[in-house]
Amino acid sequence: MRTIENVNLKYRTVILRCDLNVSIKDGKIIDDTKIKSSLKTINYILDQKAKLVIMSHLGKIKTEEDKKKNDMRIVYKRLKELLPNQVKFINETSGRRLKKAVRDLKYGEALLIQNTRYEDLKKNKESSCNRRLSKYWASLGDIFINDAFGTIHRRHASNYGISSYLPSAVGFLVQNELKNLNRLDNPKRPFVVIMGGSKVSDKIGIIQSLIKQADYILIGGAMAFTFLKAKGYKVGRSMYEEKYIDYCKDLLEHYEDRIILPTDLYGAFEMNEEASLVLQDVDSVPNNYIGLDIGDETIKLFKSILKNTKTVFWNGPLGYYEYEKFRYGTNEILKYLKETTETVILGGGDIVGCSNLLGYTDDFTFVSTGGGATLSYLENHHQPGLENM
Ligand code: 3PG
Repeated sequence: MRTIENVNLKYRTVILRCDLNVSIKDGKIIDDTKIKSSLKTINYILDQKAKLVIMSHLGKIKTEEDKKKNDMRIVYKRLKELLPNQVKFINETSGRRLKKAVRDLKYGEALLIQNTRYEDLKKNKESSCNRRLSKYWASLGDIFINDAFGTIHRRHASNYGISSYLPSAVGFLVQNELKNLNRLDNPKRPFVVIMGGSKVSDKIGIIQSLIKQADYILIGGAMAFTFLKAKGYKVGRSMYEEKYIDYCKDLLEHYEDRIILPTDLYGAFEMNEEASLVLQDVDSVPNNYIGLDIGDETIKLFKSILKNTKTVFWNGPLGYYEYEKFRYGTNEILKYLKETTETVILGGGDIVGCSNLLGYTDDFTFVSTGGGATLSYLENHHQPGLENM
């Protein structure tokens, strides 16, 4: 794989694809990790006295309303604070004005363009990897650097498309992700996977591939209820997926001794932040009970398995972490791992946000910036965004 240090960028025009898809709430960026983690590559390119064109998507764009909500100017504002006087913005994703703005850049200057997925309002051009759009974007520069780890699983015009028409290499963020995630190819044992989050259906591929590798898979979050249903337990009004019960039954038949499910739960009879906490064994869940976190016995059970574990990969919170009181189980296990486990890799979505919220940002071996991309890469290292590198 070609890497950024192995291409000559001096006085060239470089197209850089980043993943600047930050979370936004009430018109504000609530976590700028993705912007900050892109800085190493951006600064390196600017130090080479290149002209730099930065591209990224932001959200999913299906309507004019989505466009308003996902205007890249919010990212530009933050980027400008981090790189004063070095970055400009253009409210275009294609056309002659964009070409001219790139031409007018000075060496050592960067230009962030508008959200690449604005092109999706023109017959899905970005997401369907439209050939003309890919060629047009490639025509803006001499070299393509892909540093958008979060979209390596997408075959889109702004990653795979451009790389089909320009000499291409991966940036520092992608290299760091691959180096750390590759540790899981040959993990120090015992190797335990912790899975949470709401849906089994989102995790089938990754469960299928990690179960062969891991000594144990500990399951929490709402996805545990589909497994508990498969074992014949009543789950009350807890969230589960009827369609995946047979799939879970099958997994449990093959790997019963390696899949560890909750034995008790914290939950409530109403779904709101003020509802009283109720601790319940999984074999006596009342009809109107909603399971929202793992219980004390489960925490003990999970800790006993993690006790001598050398490597952990964790995807998805163990409870409904949006409500503070249901972050308890996740917090207990994060704390335990921080104190006991040599290699801990968090990745693939909400567990990263949850761990940041609980203040564990710098405590683990590696925290992946990817969501679906992390899971997709662990399932299969051949990803479209890496193909032409
Ligand atoms: C992410 O947030 O996981 C990446 O930015 C990819 O976003 P997407 O799922 O909308 O392609």
